[in-house]
Amino acid sequence: MQRGVHPVKERTVFAIAVLTVALLAAGFWVAQNVNLMPAEASTRAALVDQLFRAMLGMAAVVFLLVEGVLLYSVLRFRRPKGDEADAVPVHGNRALEIVWTLIPALIVVVIGFYSFRVLAASETRDADPLVVNVHSRQFSWSFEYPASGVTATDLHLPLGRQVRFMITYADVIHSFWVPEFRVKRDATPGQLAELLVTPTRLGTYPVRCAELCGVGHATMGLTSQVYVETEADFEAWLEAQAALPSDPIDAGRVLFGRYGCSSCHALADANAVSVVGPALDALADPASEHATMHGTDLRGYVEQSIVDPSAFVVAGFADGLMPKDFATRIPAGELAILVDYLIAQK
Ligand code: CUA
Repeated sequence: MQRGVHPVKERTVFAIAVLTVALLAAGFWVAQNVNLMPAEASTRAALVDQLFRAMLGMAAVVFLLVEGVLLYSVLRFRRPKGDEADAVPVHGNRALEIVWTLIPALIVVVIGFYSFRVLAASETRDADPLVVNVHSRQFSWSFEYPASGVTATDLHLPLGRQVRFMITYADVIHSFWVPEFRVKRDATPGQLAELLVTPTRLGTYPVRCAELCGVGHATMGLTSQVYVETEADFEAWLEAQAALPSDPIDAGRVLFGRYGCSSCHALADANAVSVVGPALDALADPASEHATMHGTDLRGYVEQSIVDPSAFVVAGFADGLMPKDFATRIPAGELAILVDYLIAQK
């Protein structure tokens, strides 16, 4: 008998083999059936969770095998009572080393291919996604629906339609994260931060920030919710948001922002400060640049300047900068509200 090795009965070997198989099966079952994740609320979530379960299954098998061999060795090769001799020196085993290098390498390659397929499937763009601009700042979110001109602090999404999030930031880097969708993306300087996701489950979920962005970082998970709704509920919400305030001045201010006037023109009442186009405060003031052009017809001047930007060009500004499609984009009723709003500014 070799020194330091106990004789093992066949029955013991059999028991250990059975126990190993049982532990492997149990580990695999736990990995497949115990759900550690939040609700699966997007097509992406289902793919990510499958990948996670596959990886957890492989990890469980490797863990139990390694721990099993370790436990077996500790018991099988333990020092007998009274044995004070040195252990037998071991100089490695080439075959064993090749096997335990190849198997993990194979596992990593398989996981790599699988992960790539999940990522590729998650980033396939549908023909007609709902575009939502996500604006992040210290310390809140806002969500803009450019097709409807609606901006809101909560996110409303229709069930089953792909959403294309375009993520931007106002101050420092934030990270848009909805755990139930299994999506997260940073708004990074100089990069187009796009994220595609299709909600598959009705419900309300928190929007979180996954990038430490200052003292209010934690509160960015408390300020906004995602509401996944039926198509009809979503349309109704969007319509209610798009409706104008009843006060004509408030309504004018909303239109000034909705049609992008505020991106180019300064106007104190709307907190607009851009200098791309002429400032629009005090249009009626005889001392303003505008007064030389509108004479007595201020209303006509403002209206025509919106629908036909080349009709009057204020000194110091180039012709052709302002879009020429407002005549078709702004309905007549809204145009009247916008003109009234602008000429009411003092
Ligand atoms: Cu924004 Cu953390």
